[in-house]
Amino acid sequence: MSDDDMSDEIEARLPEEDSFEPPEEFVDQANYTDSSIYERFESDWPECWEEAATLLDWYDVHDQVLDTSDEPFYEWFTGGSLNACYECVDRHLPERGDELAIQWEGENGEKRQFTYEDLHEEVNAVAAALQDIGVGEDDVVSVYMPMLPELPIVMLACARIGAPHNVVFAGFSSDALATRMENSDSEYLVTVDGYLRRGELLDHESKVDDALASVEHDVEAVVLGRREPWSGEGPHGYRELVDGHRGTEVEPVERDSEDMLFLMYTSGTTGTPKGVKHTTGGYLSYVAWTAHAVLDLTPEDTYWCAADIGWITGHSYIVYGPLALGTTTVMYEGAPDHPDKDRLWEMVERYMVDVFYTAPTAVRAFMKWGTDYPESHDLSSLRLLGTVGEPINPRAWKWYYRYIGGESCPVVDTWWQTETGGMMVTTLPGIGEMKPGSAGLPLPGIDARVVTGEGEEVDDGAGYLTVHKPWPGMLRTVYGDDERYIEEYWSEYSDPDEDEWIYFPEDGAKVDDDGYITVLGRVDDVVNVSGHRLGTMELESAVVGVEGVAEAAVVGGSHDVKGEAVYVYVIAEEDADAGDELRGEIVEAVEGEIGPFARPEEVVFTPDLPKTRSGKIMRRLLEDVASGEPLGDTSTLRNPDVVEDIRGQVE
Ligand code: WT7
Repeated sequence: MSDDDMSDEIEARLPEEDSFEPPEEFVDQANYTDSSIYERFESDWPECWEEAATLLDWYDVHDQVLDTSDEPFYEWFTGGSLNACYECVDRHLPERGDELAIQWEGENGEKRQFTYEDLHEEVNAVAAALQDIGVGEDDVVSVYMPMLPELPIVMLACARIGAPHNVVFAGFSSDALATRMENSDSEYLVTVDGYLRRGELLDHESKVDDALASVEHDVEAVVLGRREPWSGEGPHGYRELVDGHRGTEVEPVERDSEDMLFLMYTSGTTGTPKGVKHTTGGYLSYVAWTAHAVLDLTPEDTYWCAADIGWITGHSYIVYGPLALGTTTVMYEGAPDHPDKDRLWEMVERYMVDVFYTAPTAVRAFMKWGTDYPESHDLSSLRLLGTVGEPINPRAWKWYYRYIGGESCPVVDTWWQTETGGMMVTTLPGIGEMKPGSAGLPLPGIDARVVTGEGEEVDDGAGYLTVHKPWPGMLRTVYGDDERYIEEYWSEYSDPDEDEWIYFPEDGAKVDDDGYITVLGRVDDVVNVSGHRLGTMELESAVVGVEGVAEAAVVGGSHDVKGEAVYVYVIAEEDADAGDELRGEIVEAVEGEIGPFARPEEVVFTPDLPKTRSGKIMRRLLEDVASGEPLGDTSTLRNPDVVEDIRGQVE
């Protein structure tokens, strides 16, 4: 963000300090206030994690906290059994049946509220409906829905009957949905025909039709009619099906701690997305505990995580974490600037939101929109703020702290990943000093370190982030591909001969002399656009599929609001016309194969790509060009002139 986006007056009101103590009024009521928790967890590891497990009501309590007999295929709370839907719904009924579980608001102002009692009724009806169409225990149910209350309801219904869900973000294309359904052998799909965004009703139905036409196996689909009551041929209408089961009670299925709860696909270096497998006991304990320790949630809170449930943030911290704790979770369907740029603050005021969690990209957009929007609302109900998904620059952190939190709310900058299931590196809000820009210490029980390329620990400086002990929320494998699990996450630094297993998240990081970790960003070929992870290989494969494209390279370049944006460099075929038409087709291909959120910022035609003498594309140089950075060393290039040519076009 350039400096003139913020007036001098607003800038002058930002706090100057580089570190902040937790505000007293927060500490007075925080769930954790004693820093001895760090030593306690370290000296009692892995038994310390019973503190997480005891937040739940298990059918059978575990025999063993951690089973390391087949590293790195760790198992947590073995011998224990539970049901995630029971934990998030049924067990709250005696004390909190009348309290709100979900507070939903549509973009058009429509409101739907579900008490825990209502949620119980809905989830049971949906569970019975799913059983009715043939879903059995361990069948993977794909869910392709926008932010409607039915999305968490379907997830919980799946959990109730022991059917793992596979939620695919609604912004993904039909191709992306089809790939995920194929890879997960998913024979069931719950979806909608359309949804609202910025006042417009988007068509979802044709994406669903295209996906179903390309999936090789038969799929039983359920469609929620949003545009009109569903009357299409083939798939079941959601309302009709579910209403037919209203009043039915479905006994929650007792699941083993290590039974799969869900799959979530995410991008990595290589072409195909990975199905990250999360299991029941460890995951649920971990998200409940981190929601309790880091978001400081209590059952009395109204909590709003302004993410989409289609990503892991929403799974862990809109659905499972808060509901396991009996909190009220707010869900908002639409855009943050609809009808105006104070929509979120208007809602925070109206629902008296206590805890608010969002992404740095959103904070940067709020900064751009100006302080009048938050200042025209009473945000005094807020007591804690959080961010997730990408690094937050200190200015954006301070703006959030000052203008949203009124300098009385701690800000937790939480580093974690789809694979980690829950938060890993962040301050504990009632204990830790906050340093804007730095996520903080590894959570108690989490052995995260910064190491050099050779694996030597760095005490004060930059290197790579690594995790040296397993944790309950960790992924268990890449679905259907145990080898890839080891290859992707456990190969870089582990020493299997010495029984030393080190998890590598593929992030660069630095650490200061207090042990505070600042995560710098991905070191693999992944672009982080507005907190969404995109594999450059996936993007490239979409681009080279376009007729007229001979070769392509896709990189991330810095962007003032999105954090990173997608830049595409293309060598056109000799007889192709390298102009706007081809450019349009390339953009369309990316949107079609991945989704509109992956839309390239720029498509640059070039006669050549910068390559090393061995013919490898030098992405780093293209990244520098995209970010407007000075170029590093180009002496190893086979064709150094090409970089200047490309730079001329980007500027
Ligand atoms: C990648 C994981 C975790 C839910 C949302 C993203 C980056 C995440 C932070 C943070 C700096 C962060 C990392 C990570 N990231 N949180 N607080 N500071 N970087 O989940 O799609 O799996 O992406 O997001 O690069 O590896 P994801």
